[in-house]
Amino acid sequence: MDLFEHQAKELFADYGIPVPRGIVAHTVDEARAAAEQLTGRVVVKAQVKTGGRGKAGGVKVADDAQDAVEKAKAILGMDIKGHTVHKVLVEEASAIAEEYYFSFLLDRANRTFLAICSAAGGMDIEEVAHSAPEKVAKVPVSALTGVDRERAREIAVAGGLPEQALDGAAELIEKLWCCFVDEDATLVEVNPMILSADGQVKALDGKVTLDDNAVFRQPDHESYADKSAEDPLEAAAKAKDLNYVKLDGDVGIIGNGAGLVMSTLDVVAYAGEAFPGKPAPANFLDIGGGASAEVMAAGLEIILSDPSVKSIFVNVFGGITSCDAVANGIVAAFKLLESRGEAVTHPLVVRLDGNNAQLGRQILADAALPRVELVDTMDDAAKRVAELASVGA
Ligand SMILES: Nc1ncnc2c1ncn2[C@@H]1O[C@H](COP(=O)(O)OP(=O)(O)OP(=O)(O)O)[C@@H](O)[C@H]1O
Ligand SMILES: [Mg+2]
Repeated sequence: MDLFEHQAKELFADYGIPVPRGIVAHTVDEARAAAEQLTGRVVVKAQVKTGGRGKAGGVKVADDAQDAVEKAKAILGMDIKGHTVHKVLVEEASAIAEEYYFSFLLDRANRTFLAICSAAGGMDIEEVAHSAPEKVAKVPVSALTGVDRERAREIAVAGGLPEQALDGAAELIEKLWCCFVDEDATLVEVNPMILSADGQVKALDGKVTLDDNAVFRQPDHESYADKSAEDPLEAAAKAKDLNYVKLDGDVGIIGNGAGLVMSTLDVVAYAGEAFPGKPAPANFLDIGGGASAEVMAAGLEIILSDPSVKSIFVNVFGGITSCDAVANGIVAAFKLLESRGEAVTHPLVVRLDGNNAQLGRQILADAALPRVELVDTMDDAAKRVAELASVGA
């Protein structure tokens, strides 16, 4: 999960990293109140989870509260690389002497952590990395020894930071390492890390990516989730503990095992090419092992509440969970949904293979569920479900 700049800075502040005072504003009026409270010159900054905000005109200096109103008017509602600006951070303007670049990240290719530091920070760091890579120090960091004050200073020296910034930078870098480790982040980036006119080193921007796999031991991270940006179907699926991802097409997909579901998406997309309208997968849904009636019903319910879905493909390879259990799950799910007044009216193509496939097929045939078709192979089932979606089912 990526954080907004203001969230990153709140987190940094918790670790004692110096950041400018700032207030989040969702409206022009809130921006005025924030600027009045901060007094003096402020910077109005678009809060969107993408880079290059400054270059896109999403970061503007305002001389006073009235000016902040004008700047907030210009920035709120702006589109930056496909992200609409719904809020701005109004923060006190810092007197900048120099701008540096600093980040810690997970270097997957080299199976280590990496510190990146450069005295040539600011909005053109990508250009610097491209044209003058020698100005950007990349220092591997051992997970076992980490970063203490001394190591932090060495990294700052490697990045070419001047003498007068070294003490402040070393302190900031050491604290940033604590934040990176304790919060289970995969990226903490400060660009620019500044030396202010009065000799202080501060984080003027913040980008943080938290590792979603660590949520179980980071209960606070839940509060950072951006509910407004969440897909409502994905949120509903998450609430039911389903492994669901919304896609753009019209064929609902249910399978057991992530690998099988991934290949089901491929065969359906491929089969769809041959039909008018080129039907394609509407979602990824892995019901995992043990496809109980409840899980099957929950899965069907989510898929059926997607208005783009025209047909559904249930693709199961019985392993530890046998096909008869899955078939019983489907029959029970149909009954469950019918009893709730949500009877399944979409065509369902089912392919069962593997453990007890024959028995599973028999159970479904005996149940004679309306609009359920059994197809023996994955390819044929994909063709049939694409055909059904194509004719609008
Ligand atoms: N509080 C501040 N006071 C003075 N100048 C600031 C302040 N915040 C930002 N700036 C100036 O604006 C520039 C851009 O700000 P920032 O780094 O936050 O946005 P950005 O780099 O364009 O965005 P992104 O990091 O998403 O690409 C900074 O390099 C700095 O010169
Ligand atoms: Mg920046």
